[in-house]
Amino acid sequence: MPDAPANDAPHRLIVDVEFGEGVVVHPFTNLYGCRIGDETRIGPFVEIQRGVEIGARCKIQSHSLVCTGVRIEDEVFVGHGVLFVNDKHPRATTDDGDLQSEVDWELLATVVERGASIGSGAVILGGVRIGADALVGAAAVVTRDVPRGTTAVGNPARVR
Ligand SMILES: CC(C)(COP(=O)(O)OP(=O)(O)OC[C@H]1O[C@@H](n2cnc3c(N)ncnc32)[C@H](O)[C@@H]1OP(=O)(O)O)[C@@H](O)C(=O)NCCC(=O)NCCS
Repeated sequence: MPDAPANDAPHRLIVDVEFGEGVVVHPFTNLYGCRIGDETRIGPFVEIQRGVEIGARCKIQSHSLVCTGVRIEDEVFVGHGVLFVNDKHPRATTDDGDLQSEVDWELLATVVERGASIGSGAVILGGVRIGADALVGAAAVVTRDVPRGTTAVGNPARVR
């Protein structure tokens, strides 16, 4: 496996990332501690956090955040400005007033199955599964699983 993207681009931060063959990473990205499969394309201003796995031939469009706890299978489209969420009840501090650390909150895992598409501006709450070939409409807020092959829109997202 190559340890660098297939293309050159200025102003990107890549630390401890496992790349497949032919991965393209655009400028102003921040990728750390993640795995990215063959031929996947990562647009500008994307952040992909530690522990994330992204499959082959995916498109992650600009300005999206893929946070820890997310697994994206092959051939998934993630639109512009999509936000994944992994902490349902976020707090800055503990009851004692100290800044929270990793042990103080529950990490929720999310899966996006093969061939699914997520429209621009969608928010994907933690702990959900977006089924294979499903489509999440632009600006949807996904709070529950989306069954395979369905289209879900709105806030909260409902299958049409
Ligand atoms: C959800 C979606 C697939 C629906 O497309 P469609 O099947 O062609 O549907 P239509 O445009 O004919 O709209 C059908 C109805 O759904 C509504 N609708 C469409 N998209 C919607 C959305 N994202 N959220 C809420 N309602 C939506 C329309 O207002 C319309 O309602 P009406 O019948 O009351 O007028 C599409 O609008 C969408 O959001 N696609 C994602 C696009 C995207 O983000 N691409 C990213 C890269 S550019």
